[in-house]
Amino acid sequence: MSVAIYPGSFDPITNGHIDIIKRSAKIFDEVIVAVLINVDKKGLFSIEERINFIKDSVYEINNVKVISFNGLLVDLAKEYNTNIIIKGLRNATDFEYEMNMAYMNKELSEEIETVCMMSAPEMIHISSSAVKQVAKFGGNVRNLVPSCVADKLLIKIKN
Ligand code: PNS
Repeated sequence: MSVAIYPGSFDPITNGHIDIIKRSAKIFDEVIVAVLINVDKKGLFSIEERINFIKDSVYEINNVKVISFNGLLVDLAKEYNTNIIIKGLRNATDFEYEMNMAYMNKELSEEIETVCMMSAPEMIHISSSAVKQVAKFGGNVRNLVPSCVADKLLIKIKN
């Protein structure tokens, strides 16, 4: 059985992430979406909120599991008996960042393989941070994130 881990901060999940999850779920038997717990970085949404957004957005895909993790990705991969990490690439900046992470993960665990998937062309401008900035200044984010995220973003920003 092929299991792949799709890790990230997902603060919050965007339509770009969902596109990668859907396409990965067609390739691998199981896709584990892993939300990083970074104690040094306070996100806009709590880990529970991020997980719920992802679960709400991908509930119709049977072979996707959503978890949180605290630690090294290579250790999480061992826990799930896999060596496959999925990353989405939008542009050359993503490539440079991911290449370093891929080599670091390889350094930590020789058998780890990072599988990069090109983002859909209509998604390459979407990032969690850009979405938060647009929402903060009253812009429309409805085409960029799932509706559960858009609703909650408006409430968070109003408060
Ligand atoms: O969505 P992001 O913030 O780009 O995701 C980054 C993430 C979570 C994939 C990365 O920070 C990560 O793998 N963190 C786990 C800690 C780890 O394994 N670090 C070593 C590789 S550099």
